[in-house]
This record gives sequence, C-alpha cells and structure tokens, in this order.
Amino acid sequence: MSLTGITLSRHLLDDQGELADGDLAALLMQISLVARIISREVKRAALVGMLGYTGEVNVQGEQVRQLDLWSNEVCVNALKETRLVCTVVSEEMENLLHFDRNCVAGSYVVCFDPVDGSSNIGVNGTVGTIFSIRRRRGEGREHAAADLLRKGSEQLAAGYVMYGPSTILVYTAGRGVYGFTLDESIGEYLLSHPNIAIPRRGKIYSVNLGNYHRWPEQTRRAIDYFNSPGKGTGRPYSLRYVGTMVSDMHRTLLEGGVFMYPGEAGEGKKSRGKLRLLYEAQPMGYVVEQAGGRASTGLERILDIEPSEYHQRVPLIIGSADDVAIVEEFYRGER
Ligand code: AHG
Ligand code: MN
Ligand code: MN
Repeated sequence: MSLTGITLSRHLLDDQGELADGDLAALLMQISLVARIISREVKRAALVGMLGYTGEVNVQGEQVRQLDLWSNEVCVNALKETRLVCTVVSEEMENLLHFDRNCVAGSYVVCFDPVDGSSNIGVNGTVGTIFSIRRRRGEGREHAAADLLRKGSEQLAAGYVMYGPSTILVYTAGRGVYGFTLDESIGEYLLSHPNIAIPRRGKIYSVNLGNYHRWPEQTRRAIDYFNSPGKGTGRPYSLRYVGTMVSDMHRTLLEGGVFMYPGEAGEGKKSRGKLRLLYEAQPMGYVVEQAGGRASTGLERILDIEPSEYHQRVPLIIGSADDVAIVEEFYRGER
C-alpha cells in the first residue's frame, strides 16, 4: 500500500513550470523506465554473468564492467527512442553521441552516469544511475559544446536512481525535490518522499578516509574538525562511506551531513578529485540545492562552474548548508 497513491506519471503531469509542456515529463518517464530495466538486471547480475570486466578501460582510465556497458546501451537506446534528445554524454563513452546527424531534432541534451558505484556491484553493494537534462539551444553540431558545457545552474531537471533494498528515483525540475519508490509488484513508482528538505546541519561526514595523507592541509584540518569532540556542535560526527555516490548522497539528503570527494595535494591525476562535473557533481548539486543544501568545490559553487571538457573532474563538498559552509571556511583559511 502506498502512502500517497501518487504515481510518478501523475506527479509529473501535475507539476508545472518546465514540465508543463509535457516533453520533459515524457523524458523523465523514459528515464524511469530505463531505471526499472537496470534495476531488474542489477538484481540478477550475478546469475546472468554481468559482474565481470569487459577487459576495456573507459575514458576515465577505469576498468569497465559488463553491467556498465550494458546499462549504457540501455540508456542510449531508450533516450534515442524518445526523439526528444539531440545529444548525450555518458561516463562510458569517450565522445558525445548525436542522435540526429545534423543536430536539428530533439529539444534536449542529456548527461548520465549509467551505473554509479560499479566497484560495489561485485559485492552485492548498492549502485545507482545519475542524470542531468538541459535544453538544446542552437542547431547543428556546434550546439553541443555550447549546450553541454554550460553551468549547472542551467539544468532543467536532474536526479538519480538508487538500486538499494528498494529502487528509489529522486528528481528535481527546479520546483523542489521528490522521491519515488518503485513498487515492483505493480511496476509503478509511487511518491514516498514528497518535498525533500535536507537538514541544515547533520551528524555524519562521508569521505574516503584512506586518502587522508594525500589531501592538502585544509582538507585534513576540516576532517580533523569533524572527528574531534566539540561542545554544542554534535562533534565528533559519525563517519559513513559506501563508495557509491548515489548511496552516500541519498543518506546525506535525508539525514544531513557532508559528503566530500576532495582533490589531492600536488598536480597529480586526482588533484581535482575523482567525480565528474557533468554527470555527477552538477546533477547532485542541483538536487541538493533544491533541497536547501549546498554544493561547492570548497572555494566555488558547483552550479556556477563553466565546464571546459565533457569528462572533467571537480572537487566536491556537498550536503547540509552549515556543514559545507564549515569546510569552505577551512578552505578560505578562516578556521
Ligand atoms: P563510478 O562507479 O560511476 O565510476 O563512480 C564511482 C565514484 C562514486 O560513486 C564514489 O563516490 C567514488 O567513485 C568512490 O571512489 P573511491 O573508491 O575512490 O572512494
Ligand atoms: Mn559515478
Ligand atoms: Mn559509472
């Protein structure tokens, strides 16, 4: 029995603003279908031989799992099918993919991470899917750089799906954040988390602490702060880290606190952290801001960054407004 009885389709149809013309709602419905298909496959991945590696290395230099590639195909085919999308960027594709050679059809451009947290799939851990939708503005192939390499504040809609004990789809189209739980028995997403608001401050920090000695001093000092007792501040905070951003962010959204993937000291490969701007940081930043939280590099608002490359990485400090502000104070040298 659903708490509200409101399905995703009904909710999208009722929403106004950007969703009013129906196309964006149709696109979100198609993404929800993709998520149902991936959800089914995640559940039986071990039984159908999807857990292994393909032997390929993706544009990020990471080993590609069969589930990554298969899910990417599902996303690409389903988005193409809508005829609403002109061009896509995916973590699993080095180059952009234009559905229409001349780039005149399809009003939207979509960035996605088909399987987030795929290192956890082999141990039956939670994984997710992340998506970000923008409007196509220009015509022809030149539109792509101009439309995709835009600030996160220009996203029309964004969200994620978490394949946990239940499959949950969380999205924003700029009018609040809503979460829907998939009822597999009827194949419907039902509104389970209306108007999500992130607590102003939390009691949890979430970071890969194994990287501690690679961080610059201000990052280490911020973490030391959360780790040490402090009267009236709720410190020490608890540490929770799944290693699947979707999962860590879903907890952060509901319970508050801060999730971080900071850059490493020096000029090395991870000096800008690990997470990708277009299909990880921007969509999560949009969701978190819509829920009343904050998303930053430590020095700059994530949604204000003008991207320069499709797969660019960015340091990310995201979560409860007050907790993110504390880390920013360390970065500015005010603490
Ligand atoms: P992906 O599986 O899409 O490559 O993303 C993995 C990301 C993210 O989900 C998570 O927060 C982070 O990698 C974990 O990285 P570490 O193992 O370095 O902590
Ligand atoms: Mn990811
Ligand atoms: Mn991924």
